[in-house]
Amino acid sequence: MEGETMRTLQPVKKSILFLVPCLLLLYFYNSWLTGFQPVNTVHPYILCKNSSGYSHNVTILLWHFPFGVSMKLDGDVCWDLYHIPRCRLVDQRSAISYADVVVFHNRELVMGHEKLPLDHVCPQHQRWAWMTLESPVNNGNLRQFSNIFNMTMTYRRDSDVPLPYGMILPKAEAEEAQLEVVPLNKSSLICWVVSNYQSHYKRSQVYQELSSLVPVQVYGKWSKNYLRDSKLLPTISHCYFYLAFENSIATDYITEKLWKNAFQGGAVPVVLGARLSDYRAVAPPHSFIHVDDFTSVKDLAKYLQQLAKDEKRYREYFTWKEKWEVKRFTDWRERLCQICLHFDTLPEHKVYPDLMAWMSS
Ligand SMILES: *[C@@H]1O[C@H](CO)[C@@H](O)[C@H](O)[C@H]1NC(C)=O
Ligand SMILES: *[C@@H]1O[C@H](CO)[C@@H](O)[C@H](O)[C@H]1NC(C)=O
Ligand SMILES: *[C@@H]1O[C@H](CO)[C@@H](O)[C@H](O)[C@H]1NC(C)=O
Repeated sequence: MEGETMRTLQPVKKSILFLVPCLLLLYFYNSWLTGFQPVNTVHPYILCKNSSGYSHNVTILLWHFPFGVSMKLDGDVCWDLYHIPRCRLVDQRSAISYADVVVFHNRELVMGHEKLPLDHVCPQHQRWAWMTLESPVNNGNLRQFSNIFNMTMTYRRDSDVPLPYGMILPKAEAEEAQLEVVPLNKSSLICWVVSNYQSHYKRSQVYQELSSLVPVQVYGKWSKNYLRDSKLLPTISHCYFYLAFENSIATDYITEKLWKNAFQGGAVPVVLGARLSDYRAVAPPHSFIHVDDFTSVKDLAKYLQQLAKDEKRYREYFTWKEKWEVKRFTDWRERLCQICLHFDTLPEHKVYPDLMAWMSS
């Protein structure tokens, strides 16, 4: 620790005046060491965190663009678009010499399109973040990433920076007054949009059994009944129920099938994927029907049929809209800016020894 202190302070000998208050602070609060950060390698200076909670700009380096799709990061993106202050997004790789966080999107790493800059000696405080929105089976072999990453950015709630596909926010009082109309002009009992049908998926088995009991209207690539994007939500609004069935059964893996297709489409979601308790933790009360809540698919089918005939009880599944609204995350920049909201409470030191085990738990 002592050796590190000297290394951090040496380049700033000249700025003695500036250093004096810092050293005083250092004397009393040894742990504040991590607040020191050389931000410019040519004319190094340091910035101190003080007790009022002020902290310097957090610099986030995105090492490569997710799926190779570039984005504009110039200016103060996090403030201009999302009103998140003191948060700088950069993509110039030279910033690795001072960035607070370097973010790596998993897909390009596992595909071999991008490599980790492992030979680079990082500033001591720098954190490397591993980012993915995919479920464990779609992340490839993560064994190669043992003991490399300091933080995770995934849909899991226990990520250092959670990146849910969507969330609910309390409605402003003014908005509460203008209640959304429950779309009740329904022509289908149950709808499902599926592009990737694989018979061994749990969702396919549930669908097969369900459709043998009650009519299920299927759309998407698999059924050759393809829906254009602009037709998706209007079509779903004509269904009493929407099968928001995930392709993977994994902790917290709840995607736009719930947040967009069902909630924004205006059909009651029938969900399958994460545990009931995971859905309860993030979705509004009495807003969805979980397959696991039924002892058999037959019971589920009976329940759906009865509910569709009982307008009062059916409407109760929309009561949450009086108090809550759905917010979806669709822009990677907004996800990156989330780092700054969590930055001050990140653990000082953390390493993920086994991402695969963590992701699959
Ligand atoms: C933080 O970033 C903003 C916007 O990019 C900039 O105007 C400001 O000077 C920066 N502050 C520090 C202390 O680096
Ligand atoms: C209800 O939906 C049907 C089928 O999409 C449509 O033809 C009809 O005009 C709709 N009725 C109302 C009142 O919206
Ligand atoms: C980040 O992980 C590396 C590699 O294990 C480790 O050397 C470094 O101390 C960690 N940094 C932080 C801030 O946790």
